[in-house]
Amino acid sequence: MDPFLFRNNNLYCEDVALADIAAEYGTPCYVYSKSFLLSRCQAYLQALAGYKHLVCYSVKAASNIYLLKIIAEQGLGCDIVSGGELFRAKLAGVPGRKIVYSGVGKSAAEIRSALEYNILFFNVESEDELLLINETAAEMGLIAPVTLRVNPDVDPLTHPYISTGLKENKFGIPIVDAERIYLQAFNDCKNIKFVGVDCHIGSQLIKLSPFKDTAFRVRALIENLLSHGLQLDYVDFGGGLGIDYDGEDVPEVNQLVDIFTEVLEGLDLTIVLEPGRSMVGNSAVMLTKIQYIKNSSEKKFAIVDAGMNDLLRPSLYNAFQKIEKINISQHSASDPFSKYDIVGPICESGDFLAKERAFPELYKDDVLAVMGAGAYGFSMSSNYNSRPRAPELLVDGSSVTVIRERESYEDLVRGEKLGR
Ligand code: LLP
Repeated sequence: MDPFLFRNNNLYCEDVALADIAAEYGTPCYVYSKSFLLSRCQAYLQALAGYKHLVCYSVKAASNIYLLKIIAEQGLGCDIVSGGELFRAKLAGVPGRKIVYSGVGKSAAEIRSALEYNILFFNVESEDELLLINETAAEMGLIAPVTLRVNPDVDPLTHPYISTGLKENKFGIPIVDAERIYLQAFNDCKNIKFVGVDCHIGSQLIKLSPFKDTAFRVRALIENLLSHGLQLDYVDFGGGLGIDYDGEDVPEVNQLVDIFTEVLEGLDLTIVLEPGRSMVGNSAVMLTKIQYIKNSSEKKFAIVDAGMNDLLRPSLYNAFQKIEKINISQHSASDPFSKYDIVGPICESGDFLAKERAFPELYKDDVLAVMGAGAYGFSMSSNYNSRPRAPELLVDGSSVTVIRERESYEDLVRGEKLGR
């Protein structure tokens, strides 16, 4: 189900014309579809219905508390990677027992606040972190539930910047060392309790084979640990399922789940997944307006009002995101196509949303929708060049709710001092 469809040459989100949103709320802005978000929650819940499971939405993908609350109301939990994400999850009403905490650099204060909130478990990424959690839990008179995030050394076949499961990546504990660390800490660390095994091998995976290879390696580890007398309740396979940005043939959630359940056959464990992109990626577009057209002998540029501070993925990963003109009736359908660089107002040559992209003639004031902007879109936006961040809007049928206001100039300088 795609909530972003053309009707009479106008792009809609559910029952609202994006042109109306741009006119009322201004550009740039992020527009999310509530029904799409709900359908993705259901896709995960239904795929896992026959098994003990917990779906922990990966907050970093889109962190707005309004979205988190909707997701929590569907019964999902959260995968967090910072104290800030814990704060958001709490505000959204996510119970501690539905929160898992990943990340290579958890601080002592962050560990403490997660223990206070009684989270389900920490996914521990180093021996040092294990010791710190043990120490902190001891100080608090608690037993901390943990898994080790193992690095299975499987190539996720994705962009190197978002690949995490190879042995040269900073993430997790090499799977070959995991058994030793589990057994040593099982004996030595009295304030931790191992509750499972965790992994996450990368993001935007569009092949199932790396998930399968990982699951086999993780199963072998679990069997060894069980044979040594550890009691494990959870296996967390992280997130990573890709989405269709450019016509990619992406596996369905139930195909992914089938892989895990087949490989785990016979083990009595709760499956935890941490999906981010596949939950929210295609739930939103970013709208941006063309401010100027600049033609040189070499190039045609459409200079838009959104920059790399608003949507970083094209600049950072050279990521392809489809761009649609939201009103195609405005100009003659017979306008010839030509290639444009869609660039922002930021003072960096790397500030682009698309390069050499074919469009029918583009004009000043045309509004463009950058598709697939729901994941790592707003959440990676910044104030670079002192640009207030864009608003986030949620469409539900024919109603629009502002779920984050456009920032003001006052917001930009909040906390700064003028001095004397
Ligand atoms: N679990 C852990 C421990 C993670 O590090 C991540 C993402 C996820 C789950 C969710 O992965 P997903 O289902 O979204 O693939 N900024 C990049 C993506 C970075 C992913 C970071 N970790 C991008 O824009 O493509």
